[in-house]
Parts: sequence; structure tokens; C-alpha cells
Amino acid sequence: MESRKQFRAIKGTRDILPAESALWDWFEQTAREVLASYNFREIRLPIFEETELFARSIGSDTDVVGKEMYTFDDRDESSISLRPEATASVCRAYIEHGMHLLPGNQKLYYVGPMFRRERPQKGRYRQFYQIGAEVLGPSDAPAIDAEILEMLLVLFGHEGLMNTTLYVNSVGCQQCRPEYVERLREELRTVKDKLGPDSQRRIETNPLRVLDSKLPEEQALIEKLPRLVDHLCAACRQHFSELKDELRLREICFEESWRLVRGLDYYTRTTFEVTATGLGSQNAICGGGRYDGLVELLGGRAGVKGIGFAIGTDRAILSIQEGGHPPALPGLSVFIARMGTRAYPIAVNIAKKLRASGLVVELPPEETNLRKALGLADKLGARYGLIIGEDEAASGTFTLKRLADADQKRLSESELLEFLESERRGLGA
Ligand code: HAM
Repeated sequence: MESRKQFRAIKGTRDILPAESALWDWFEQTAREVLASYNFREIRLPIFEETELFARSIGSDTDVVGKEMYTFDDRDESSISLRPEATASVCRAYIEHGMHLLPGNQKLYYVGPMFRRERPQKGRYRQFYQIGAEVLGPSDAPAIDAEILEMLLVLFGHEGLMNTTLYVNSVGCQQCRPEYVERLREELRTVKDKLGPDSQRRIETNPLRVLDSKLPEEQALIEKLPRLVDHLCAACRQHFSELKDELRLREICFEESWRLVRGLDYYTRTTFEVTATGLGSQNAICGGGRYDGLVELLGGRAGVKGIGFAIGTDRAILSIQEGGHPPALPGLSVFIARMGTRAYPIAVNIAKKLRASGLVVELPPEETNLRKALGLADKLGARYGLIIGEDEAASGTFTLKRLADADQKRLSESELLEFLESERRGLGA
């Protein structure tokens, strides 16, 4: 017989199965609630955009654009790419919909998959998920940066992500950074022979990225390089100092990290990252920063400022699973075991009522004997077995059995509904 090929998910992609997806739902829902409490509203964006949008925003010399995008020609010959991130799309949408005309700053968030053709490893995938937030508008007050960071840490607190560290830096602006980059490049040329091939190449293409190097043999050299924080212009210096004051005001713990330059070219001034434990080398669960010239660079209004972050959901969830505090999530409450033809319509009816009251109910499609039914209920993790046999059907009652300790009681319909409702409220289910 001809053997049939079995398909597998493409390298770097994966299925999130129900055993895990409940945690994902809870994680995203919690994020939505915290974001909403800071007056962020959702924007739903396309998964693909013109390639040029990403090239211009993120930078052609970055790894993300240069090596990692999934790019293809559409039928009308235009080049499109699966989004490697969503900040560029948010700016595109901001411009396209004339959002600068709306009052105040626009506070937007998005939830969804991103695509980068990276080498897969623990915490690094080719399709991964982000929860991101962006603030766009006329103001670049450091209070905006600080509020975003406060919100992130409140969010991580709610998610049970306790072992996190926030790193902050300032990468300056168009006034001060080019001069520093030139200085850095000159300095790097003098030690070129001692650097690895990636860093050697970056001296010419993007010297700031050398600071990001993790190669052990480059670390001592990098530590001796001139630091951008010492070369900021007066306005950037003041912005960074006010940001740190704001963080202290909000009692936010942070560490300064002069090497935090990030892998995307659009950043100005504030950059930040949050790391978490239990993840190995891919330990950044969130990255972000300010991108004040980006809207203008994309053909929008001059003077629009922006700042935002993206949480890597895959990594945040991994960290929760490996040492965080995963919540007890509500599962199957009631498994209905019914026996005899008279029990069936009663079972269908009560299942509908229990579900309407917010309980998770499983009504098996076929009748089995009681032992088998309760065995399955147990394997499915049901809290209760609801038994409807000939006796119950005849007397209009129900037998409710708590599966953990086999405690059981006979109840009328109204007693049953009342009892399970109070249980549900107690469990927060
Ligand atoms: P990013 O640092 O490239 O920033 O990505 C943000 C987060 O996404 C990372 O910290 C990481 O948790 C997660 N991430 C990135 N690549 C992967 C991957 N291959 N597998 C799993 N997780 C990954 C941005 O994307 C910016 N758009 C953030 C931003 C918003 N900046 C300003 N506004």
C-alpha cells in the first residue's frame, strides 16, 4: 500500500494544545485588563505588510530585516512580508487613519503572532507571539515612559512573574548619536583584529550592535569602549534623568545598562528590556523604547512622538511554567452520568441550565454504565459527577458526587442549581 506522508508543523512553529492554551488565554486576558486600566485600547492589525514598511522602520542593516523576514512577491509583483514586529504597522495605521487629529496621545495595544526566521531554540521560535503597546502623539514627557514601565511591572506582578529585572538606557537622538557612533566606530577599528566576524562586519554597518555582543572574548574590550550615556546632548541627558526620577517616584526598581541598544534602528532616547529567570539565554521577556522620528520617517507628520514595548508571550509563559506562579484555572465542573431512557431528556435539560449559570459541563453523547462514566469523569478532571438514573428520574432528583472524596448527596433541581452556583462563586470559576 502506498505510504502516506504525515505532516508536521514547520520548523520553529508549534501548536499550543489545550493543556497549555488555558494558561495563554488567562495570560492574554490579564494583560488586556491591565492595559485597559491604563486606558490603552486594542488595534487589530494585518499579519503582512509591504516589505518596504519594515525595511524603512526597522532598518535594512538589522538582522530582522536583512536575514529574518518571510518575504514574497504578491501576484501584482509588490513585495510583502509577514510582520516581524508590529510597531511599524501601528505607525502606518496611525498615519493612514489621521490619528494625529484625535485628541491627546493615542494609547494602543495589540496581541498576536510575529514571524522571524531565526534559529529555533528554547524560547525562540519562527512564529512567536507578542502583546505590545504603543503611545503616539505630540508629547514625549518622561512620565509617559515611566507610566508604560509601571504598567509593565504591574502586569508582570498580576501574571505571577516575580523574578524579573528591568534594564533601562538612553540611546540619544539624531543630534547626539551620530557623533557618538562615529567615535565608537573609530575606537572599534583600532581593536578590529580582536573581534569576531559579526562584530567586525558591524563596525561598518551598525557599530552600536557590537555593544549587544554576547561573545565572552569580546566582553573585556567592549567594557572599555566609550559609552553613549556619557555623550548624550543636554536635552537627552535631561530626559533620561527625569525618567529615572519618575521611576523612583513610582517605586520601580531598575538597573541602568549602557549597552542596551536593541536590535531595531528606530529607537531614540529611552530603551528598556525586562528579563526573567528560567529561560536560559533567551531571557528577555519584553523589549521596547522610544521612537520619536518614526512616524515622520514613514511619511507622517513631523513632531509625532512614540514609545512602546512588546512582551514575548511564549517566553513569559515559559518563565511562569518554570518557577513562576501559574494560577489554578477553572476546569471541568460537572460530568453528567445518565442511565436509562427517561434520564436522557432530564440530562439534556439540566446540562443547558448548568452551562447557562457559567459552569463547565460535559454531557457524554452515549450512555455507559455508572462505573465507566465516573471513571471517565475522573480522568477528565471533573469536580463532580452528576448521576441521573432510573431512581432520580422517577423522583425528580439528582445525585451529586464530589469525585475527590466520593461524598454524595441527593438534591432537587433548585437545590442543585443553588449549591453549584455557590461553589462556582467560591472558586471564582
Ligand atoms: P523585540 O525586542 O524585537 O522588540 O521583541 C520583543 C520581545 O519579543 C522580545 O523581548 C522577546 O520576548 C520576544 N521575541 C522576539 N523574537 C522572538 C522569537 N524569535 N521567539 C520568541 N520570542 C521572541 C520589538 O518587537 C519591538 N516592536 C518592541 C517595541 C514596541 N518597541 C517599541 N514599541
